[in-house]
Amino acid sequence: MHITKSEEKILSGEEGPVKQKALELLVGLGKIFGAERLIPVKSVQVAGVSYQNIGDAGLDFLNDWAAEAKVVVPTTLNPAGMDLENWEPFVGHEFAEKQLEIIDAYRRMGIQITCTCTPYYVGNVPNAGDHIAWSESSAVVYANSVLGAYTNREGGPSALAAAIIGKTACYGYHIDENRVPVVQVTVPETMFDYSDYSAAGYWIGKNTDGVPIVDFGQAPKNEYLRGFSAGLAASGDKAMFHLGRREGLPEVVMHEEDLIGVYASFTSESEFDAVYLGCPHLSFQEVGRVARTVSNKKLRYPLLLFCSREIYRQAFYKGYLDILKRAGAYLIADTCMVVSPLKYKSVLTNSAKAAHYLKSFGVKVELAYTDDCIKYALGGKYEG
Ligand code: F3S
Repeated sequence: MHITKSEEKILSGEEGPVKQKALELLVGLGKIFGAERLIPVKSVQVAGVSYQNIGDAGLDFLNDWAAEAKVVVPTTLNPAGMDLENWEPFVGHEFAEKQLEIIDAYRRMGIQITCTCTPYYVGNVPNAGDHIAWSESSAVVYANSVLGAYTNREGGPSALAAAIIGKTACYGYHIDENRVPVVQVTVPETMFDYSDYSAAGYWIGKNTDGVPIVDFGQAPKNEYLRGFSAGLAASGDKAMFHLGRREGLPEVVMHEEDLIGVYASFTSESEFDAVYLGCPHLSFQEVGRVARTVSNKKLRYPLLLFCSREIYRQAFYKGYLDILKRAGAYLIADTCMVVSPLKYKSVLTNSAKAAHYLKSFGVKVELAYTDDCIKYALGGKYEG
C-alpha cells in the first residue's frame, strides 16, 4: 500500500498518538482489503453514538480521542440513545448523563451534533462522484445509490478515524468496477406504501448476491427509496443498488408472495403497545402528513415519530409539533426506536429495518402500511 510522506509522519507519531492510531486503523483496513492508497473524503458520518450500544468502554475510548484529536472534514453523527433535549419520558437520569458525556466528546472533536441517520435531509449532502466515509448502513446505501457518492459501510471507529485524518482506504465501493450491477431484479407491481419498499429491499438483500439493479417500473418517491435502502442494508451486507434495467444480467423476479412473506416473517399479533414511524428518520413532509392525519383527534396508543433535530425544529415552526402533541403523539429527535432503551414489548411499524432489529431484541413487531399504523394508534383495529 502506498504511503505518502505526510502519512509517514503521522504513522511515526509526530502528530500525536491519536492521529497515529487513527491512521494505523485506516492503513490496517486498507491492507486487509487490498487498497493501494488512501483517498481524501469530502464528508464523514459517524455511528456508535448511543450509550445503549457503546457503553462505558465506548465512552472511555471517545474521551481519550477527544482529549487530543479534531476532525478535519465536515462530520455528522448517527442517532443517540435519547432525545437530547426531552429525554425524561423514556430514559433515566443515569443513562442521560452518560449519553450527554458521549455527545460532549464528539462535540469536542468538532463533529456536528446532528444525531440522525438521514444526514442528507440536514445538509450533509454529497455530490455525485464524491468520496465519503459514512457508517450508518441505510445512509450508505442511499448515498451510493440515490446520491451517486462513493462510500463503504464504515464501522464507527473507522469512520471516526477517517474524519480525523480526512481520508479513507481506497477499496470496495470507492472503485468503479465494484459498483457495477451484477443481477437484474424485478419487483411486484403491487407496491403501494413505504412499508412495501422497505420490505422489498429487505427481501432483495437476503435473496441476491452482489450489486443489484432494480426495475421498479416507475420512479419511486424519494422517501420510498430511503425505506428501500434501509431494508436492503438490514438484511445483508449490501451497500448499493442501481435503478432501472440492464440487459444481459441474470434476473431475479420478486413476486407478490415474496413481499407478503416478508410481512409474515414478523409477528402476527393484533394488539400492540405502541406504534413507531421514522426508520430511517422522517422527512419534514412525512411529519406534516402524520400531523394532518391526527389533527383534532386523540390517540389511543402511543405513536412515536422519530426525526432529526433539524426536522423537529421545522415541525415546531410550522405548527406540526403542537398538533401532534395535542393528539398525544410524540415527535422525538436525535434518537430512534432501535438505539434507545424503549420499553414497549409489542409494536407496529412501517419499517422492515426497524422490525428486523426490534425482533432480534425480543420485541413482538408487526410490519404494516403507514396508514394502518396511524389508524391503529388512533384506536382502530389492526387486521393484518
Ligand atoms: Fe435510523 Fe435507527 Fe432505523 S438509526 S435507520 S432509525 S434503526
